[in-house]
Amino acid sequence: MGEIIYENQLRYLTSFRKESDQLILEIETFAKEKRVPILDWLSVELLVNLISSHKPKRVLEIGTAIGYSTIKIAQNLSKRGAVHTIEKSSDNILIANENFQKSGLTDKIRLFEGDALSIMPQLKKKYDFIFLDADKEDYENLLDYSVMLLKKRGILFVDNLLWHGHAAAQRVPPSYKNSTDHIRKFNKKFMQHPKLQSTILPVGDGIGLGVRL
Ligand SMILES: C[S@@+](CC[C@H](N)C(=O)[O-])C[C@H]1O[C@@H](n2cnc3c(N)ncnc32)[C@H](O)[C@@H]1O
Repeated sequence: MGEIIYENQLRYLTSFRKESDQLILEIETFAKEKRVPILDWLSVELLVNLISSHKPKRVLEIGTAIGYSTIKIAQNLSKRGAVHTIEKSSDNILIANENFQKSGLTDKIRLFEGDALSIMPQLKKKYDFIFLDADKEDYENLLDYSVMLLKKRGILFVDNLLWHGHAAAQRVPPSYKNSTDHIRKFNKKFMQHPKLQSTILPVGDGIGLGVRL
């Protein structure tokens, strides 16, 4: 996150953080130790505020990892709300399911195992809110499926659109070249999409917010 906002700003904002849920804090520690990429806490707060205010009945998450953001979403859904989440890594699926059990929220969460590129075209019912957080090479195609699956006025929330600062950088390290190209192409398509009212916010690693027109 340091490449997007100044370290002193981040320290200042962190001083206001109120998270006290033991499971959430444990998953954050686990993710840090095992280097599992999860949504940064500032973006989680934005996500949670949108979920609490928009009250979506049906949420779709693309990229569960170990269930961190899924649990945050499930904790903030209204009584009749549910979150569907898609994950292709069997190692992550195992840990995510353990975390879902620990959260006590399994009645609100449904995990689809497999590649979102093949699962999404099979989903029939539309969603009120979609959170896209998968491999950057898949982002463009997943955008098409997400727009198809979003209800009118539904929200698309996308992580990593500033891509550790590389999206806007003049020079990109060779190991980030390919993923940065994908993010830049995605950003163009997302910002010019005729069916979305889109914006990219400098929160966390860059959050895309699109409202389905
Ligand atoms: C950044 S992590 C997700 C983090 C999670 N949303 C959170 O904040 O707790 C991305 C995850 O998406 C999964 N993934 C990437 N591309 C995918 C695809 N096309 N279909 C399903 N899962 C995918 C990866 O295996 C990885 O676990």
